[in-house]
Amino acid sequence: MTAAPAAAAAVTGAGTAVLAPARVPAGPGGPAAARTAPQATEPPASDYPLWLSLAGRRAVVVGGGSVALRRARSMLAAGAVVHVIAPGIGAELAALDVTVHLRPYRDGDLDGAWLAHAATGNPGVNAEVAAEADRRRVWCVRADDAATSAAWTSAVTRHGDVTVAVTAGRDPRRAQQLRSAIALALAGGSLPLRRHRRPAAGQPGLVALVGGGPGDAGLITVRGRRLLAEADVVVVDKLAPRDLLAELDPGVEVIEAGKSPHAHNLSQQQINDLIVSRALAGRLVVRLKGGDPFVFGRGGEEALACVRAGVPFEVVPGVTSAIAVPACAGIPVTHRGVTQDFAVVSAHLDPSHPGATVDWAALASGPGTLVLLMAVAHLDEIATELVKRGRDAETPVAVICEGTTPRQQVLISTLGDVAAAAGQRGIRAPAVVVVGEVVRLRELLVPAGTA
Ligand SMILES: C[S@@+](CC[C@H](N)C(=O)[O-])C[C@H]1O[C@@H](n2cnc3c(N)ncnc32)[C@H](O)[C@@H]1O
Repeated sequence: MTAAPAAAAAVTGAGTAVLAPARVPAGPGGPAAARTAPQATEPPASDYPLWLSLAGRRAVVVGGGSVALRRARSMLAAGAVVHVIAPGIGAELAALDVTVHLRPYRDGDLDGAWLAHAATGNPGVNAEVAAEADRRRVWCVRADDAATSAAWTSAVTRHGDVTVAVTAGRDPRRAQQLRSAIALALAGGSLPLRRHRRPAAGQPGLVALVGGGPGDAGLITVRGRRLLAEADVVVVDKLAPRDLLAELDPGVEVIEAGKSPHAHNLSQQQINDLIVSRALAGRLVVRLKGGDPFVFGRGGEEALACVRAGVPFEVVPGVTSAIAVPACAGIPVTHRGVTQDFAVVSAHLDPSHPGATVDWAALASGPGTLVLLMAVAHLDEIATELVKRGRDAETPVAVICEGTTPRQQVLISTLGDVAAAAGQRGIRAPAVVVVGEVVRLRELLVPAGTA
């Protein structure tokens, strides 16, 4: 009777998953036959997935080529004491921290070994190694003959403390492709990575200050998305990519930190206290922000709060609205032959405000692109100030509201007219204002009818 291999999955504790083949006896009954008790001559109903702790244990690789090199490397990574037996070996293998026996294999070489790899190009030698391993009850992986091998390796991907090992009917290429697809899904955060076991009492969790990008859910980084998939608590801003909240596990605590760009539910101090206290309780806290956390995002203050409280944190940069919102509206902030510099400015204060520190005179004098954030409330005063300080009133200006979202609006005007035009159009925050000749490129970069 032949075996029909099929993929199956098993998950072990501590974030480790094993995908292994289930060998289902084929026959007239098809898969249902697998439910009947196997006859003595039948292959086992399934193989037995297992993880080995090789640290400090002797492992023997017979062979000196590329397969031997890969096996030696992965066993060294697991802490094994690796012996390589081969009449000749490659330079890379020789450079590893292994004991090399530069001679042919001979019976007795597996003495004291916990695991063996028969990885020579010679099936006869591999069979001898496997036979000695059987005699000594040492697990042996045969590189040349998966069907007769007592043990075999899997295609592995590791993400943090999650390890996935795939075998697929002893077809290594199939296993590798499946592994790569799982690796992609893990990296992209589309698999349920959230831990359900808390760290030991007293051990802090983590605060991840994640830049969510300008609003479109596809513009968060892969790392940010993955951390969201792992989060226990998400503290979210209004301008973060909120569509991603719908994908969270129902058990995730979602806390709104701001209802509108300038009307926060929580003070900055309350946000700092919140993320720190949840992390000290062992939670993985994602502080999900719009754009980049360190571009007018107060991410630095939140990071400092973590430092002061001794809470581990990481910063995941985001795609800032300062560049992405103009880009998605067809405006590059620099362009060869047009401008070689750009400045990103927080314009939330009227230039005449005593607390205003922006050097409008310097910004007005150069030809560089100005990207103004939080400028809607004082657009009139800012445009007037720039013209007063020397920028040409005919300089093109774009005001892009709710950029990258389905609600995006773009107003094209000039420095002299933009405030009145924005008033007429009822332009509201959030908006990015771009001042400079690069605005003209929009005509070329946004095809007619799609603006
Ligand atoms: C407090 S700042 C935060 C900036 C953010 N950290 C970043 O890197 O994009 C908020 C300002 O960013 C701009 N902004 C953010 N997202 C935007 C979007 N989707 N469309 C237009 N402007 C946006 C607006 O000027 C808004 O008032």
